[in-house]
Amino acid sequence: MIDIKKLLKWFGSKTKLLNTLTSKMPDAYNAFYEPFVGSGAFIFNQMPRYGYINDLNTALVNVYRQLKDDPENLINKLLDLDSFVCDGDRYYKLRRKYNQKLKANNYDVETAALLLYLNKHCFSGLYRVNKKGEFNAAWNHRIKPDPLDTENLKAIGKYLSDNDITIANEDFERFADKAKPGDFVYFDSPYVPETKTANFVGYTSAGFSLEDQERLAELFQRLTERKVFCMLSNSDTDITRSLYTNYRIDKVYVSRNIGGISNKNIGYEIIVRNY
Ligand SMILES: C[S@@+](CC[C@H](N)C(=O)[O-])C[C@H]1O[C@@H](n2cnc3c(N)ncnc32)[C@H](O)[C@@H]1O
Repeated sequence: MIDIKKLLKWFGSKTKLLNTLTSKMPDAYNAFYEPFVGSGAFIFNQMPRYGYINDLNTALVNVYRQLKDDPENLINKLLDLDSFVCDGDRYYKLRRKYNQKLKANNYDVETAALLLYLNKHCFSGLYRVNKKGEFNAAWNHRIKPDPLDTENLKAIGKYLSDNDITIANEDFERFADKAKPGDFVYFDSPYVPETKTANFVGYTSAGFSLEDQERLAELFQRLTERKVFCMLSNSDTDITRSLYTNYRIDKVYVSRNIGGISNKNIGYEIIVRNY
């Protein structure tokens, strides 16, 4: 079995925190839960045999489901799309097609292939939707981007189908509230903004508000009372710290980038644990 990497470029992907997160896991647990799975960097690093993953972004969840059910079909569709040079005309034409499919709630294998294709060819690998739910990232102006990592896609599909992994598409609270004593939940929500301008929540049309952060903290408390192991990462801000005063907090150093573009945005984050 090859090492599995994250599914795609995704804002907030945890690739750079994997060793730190692993060192802070509980020694043993029952089921693994990831309510904000995004690109899956953490679950594919841990590879639990029994787990539940979730994201509110339906198009992203569709990619995981298609990969689990029929990876060959998705990979072939993607290779077909990628067999032509991607210039601006082609990128925006396929972006329009993708948005029409989202509007029609048409989550099929072609929609999944288009998402992966557009992610590869969009600026900075930033999957971003507007309030209407339309994907609006610009073309990355690269006529010759990196080749597709089809082996990784196959490995993700095999991992998801060979193990007992349930894939959900709902709000985090409803999803994670199902965890039972002894289960482990890793929360990696959209972050509390560090500044008024550094506030990326455009993963879904709903965004992620301060009320959502408060709901998350209340859920963390409920799960703690239920003896569920919980770990959470977020920005190191006064707001975040005030939401988790009763828990163990580690400050960790992270260099952040998206799509390998920038290393300038270097900062600290926190990891909160109830064990
Ligand atoms: C910081 S990213 C997670 C990144 C992930 N750990 C990774 O390695 O790629 C936050 C994720 O939360 C999802 N999300 C936003 N609001 C949500 C909600 N209310 N319930 C569940 N997922 C949500 C977004 O679609 C996004 O994928």
